Amino acid sequence: MTEGFDAAWLALREPHDVRARSAELADAFLAALPPRPRILDLGAGTGSNARYIDAHAIATGRTVDWLLVDGDGGLLSRATGIRAFQARTVDFAAPERIDLAGVDGVTASALFDLVSEAWFTRFAALLAGRPLLAALTADGSHRWDPADPDDGEVERWFAEDMCCDKGFGPAMGLAAPAGMAATLGAAGYELRDAATPWTLGPDDAALRAAMLDGVAEAAARHGDGDRVARWRERRQGARALRLTVGHRDILALPRR
Ligand SMILES: C[S@@+](CC[C@H](N)C(=O)[O-])C[C@H]1O[C@@H](n2cnc3c(N)ncnc32)[C@H](O)[C@@H]1O
Repeated sequence: MTEGFDAAWLALREPHDVRARSAELADAFLAALPPRPRILDLGAGTGSNARYIDAHAIATGRTVDWLLVDGDGGLLSRATGIRAFQARTVDFAAPERIDLAGVDGVTASALFDLVSEAWFTRFAALLAGRPLLAALTADGSHRWDPADPDDGEVERWFAEDMCCDKGFGPAMGLAAPAGMAATLGAAGYELRDAATPWTLGPDDAALRAAMLDGVAEAAARHGDGDRVARWRERRQGARALRLTVGHRDILALPRR
């Protein structure tokens, strides 16, 4: 695996993810599955996505048998708060390593902006019509308020970094939601989607600071490092800063 993820980062984002996500699409995903479905959560990390959907299943009296799949066994070992689950450590740099035998539906969160279009095309073929709920794919619509003259340039460099190879070929990055929609449409799916942004202000200082650091570090790898450092300093000083981070949830159901 090329890209490592920190359990502390996943814990920091989880409550914001829960607030941002589309409950309607999670319920529609469950409604499309058998009464006691087996769902595979791809790139499960510490289980944030399964925890969210499991809570929706509980609310309607349903039990889900979860299969959590991730390349990082250390993250999987921290999964709690999901009623019935098995965890499997798999590096799915090649999508064919994902075993979908006996799986009724597939879900993933914060994953598909890391993968390439070619990887996703092979993955969509493997799905073979199973319902897919892809939550919280980054769509790049960052909005900084108040604006800074260097926001545009820094965001352009950040977007370049998002397209670097994260272990799956050149990543779709911020173009992922559009690329996924095209691929899934061609594979015979009907799509519903929802904007699921984080809106971060002074009350969300920890995630806002982590995003600022992440954007600055990524942008500095592609652009003028001094200019990025000055931008970061100005941004760090702006206590009232509001940041909107765009994501999309996509539900793909087989066309009737
Ligand atoms: C951004 S995290 C999202 C984790 C979780 N879905 C969540 O929303 O908290 C991406 C996850 O993909 C996993 N991952 C990245 N590349 C992988 C690969 N090649 N094989 C298996 N897992 C991978 C990481 O270990 C990480 O847990």
